[in-house]
Amino acid sequence: MKNVLVTGGAGFIGSNFINYILDKRDDYFVVNLDKLTYAGNLENLIPSEGKKNYRFVRGDICNAELVDYLFNKYKIKYVINFAAESHVDRSILGSEVFFRSNVIGTNVLLESARRYNVEKFLQVSTDEVYGSLGAEGLFTETTELHPNSPYSSSKAAADLMALSFHHTYGVPVVITRCSNNYGPYQFPEKLIPLMIINTLNNKKLPVYGDGMNVRDWIYVIDHNKAVEAVFESGKPGEVYNVGASNEMPNIEIVKLILKELNKDESLIEYVKDRPGHDRRYAIDSSKIQNELGWKPEFEFEEAISRTIKWYVDNKNWWERIISGEYQKYYQTQYGSR
Ligand code: NAD
Ligand code: DAU
Repeated sequence: MKNVLVTGGAGFIGSNFINYILDKRDDYFVVNLDKLTYAGNLENLIPSEGKKNYRFVRGDICNAELVDYLFNKYKIKYVINFAAESHVDRSILGSEVFFRSNVIGTNVLLESARRYNVEKFLQVSTDEVYGSLGAEGLFTETTELHPNSPYSSSKAAADLMALSFHHTYGVPVVITRCSNNYGPYQFPEKLIPLMIINTLNNKKLPVYGDGMNVRDWIYVIDHNKAVEAVFESGKPGEVYNVGASNEMPNIEIVKLILKELNKDESLIEYVKDRPGHDRRYAIDSSKIQNELGWKPEFEFEEAISRTIKWYVDNKNWWERIISGEYQKYYQTQYGSR
């Protein structure tokens, strides 16, 4: 049995990971430590609830005493750290909690991991640590780090802290740097669910700048499988880029969503650009493909349709979210449109 501390498992990617892994394997004992911030939602984990090899603990990864207690109580030998403040726009509105959870929180986990001699520590990172690309080229694992937002800077700091624990103390750290995910249970502040939900509600679709910023999209289950591959076979001290070679300008995604939902493009509204908005991300994932045998399995066309359908079919899930504290954030970020 592998006793794994999975942090941030009530968020979008972490919950998909836990549901995926517990469905597939019974040799993982998963302790899910999540603070349940605005982005954490236990409804995402209904498929895993009640499984004998699953425990949920509500708590903060910055709480060193709690983290140490959990390592001891559950004989933790593995860590997968998804927990983070994850939204770039919110990091622009206020950076402190990003520094706390993403940098200090990761450091707390690393300290316990060191003391308890963990066998693997997987830090879930992002392609945003590399900064922005021009019209050509791809991020590789040797691309210089050049984070531009408070969010991506905090993720880069956490990566460097994790790598230093490998170099200095021999903690078997591995890092994944994935591109933009989409799929079920994604919090509606992010581009794809925001646009789907606004379309369903006949609300304006706020496109930043000229809509030509490019992101490289991957279905969340492909990311989960990459995390599994790196967790199982990644070499300590190494970084693995994860992406599905699916670059698209934002406006194309927005138009595709409108088309799938039979709505008119007049819902599109170009709004003030995100400050410091990175122009283009694109990932070279040949290292994980060649060395670990992972490759993306989901075709964008099919997986985006399936995702749109999920939001259409799971109105209760997102209606509960957008009726709460989210309204205040929406007002601050987008005004009264
Ligand atoms: P999310 O915002 O949906 O979920 C984050 C989860 O972490 C929430 O459940 C939240 O409650 C929890 N959390 C936040 N601070 C915490 C703390 N201090 N202690 C314990 N729990 C805390 O995020 P996501 O999109 O699922 O991203 C998960 C991870 O993947 C993040 O580390 C993010 O940087 C990384 N990532 C995301 C993407 C993407 O496209 N969404 C791409 C690459 C990497
Ligand atoms: O690249 C990986 C990263 O992808 C992750 O590390 C982050 O956690 C995740 O949030 C995501 O960051 P982005 O900033 O790329 O994602 P977001 O969905 O916020 O925005 C995607 C693009 O869409 C970006 O160019 C900004 C644009 N956008 C976004 C919103 C919310 C709009 O034009 N309008 C919007 O309202």
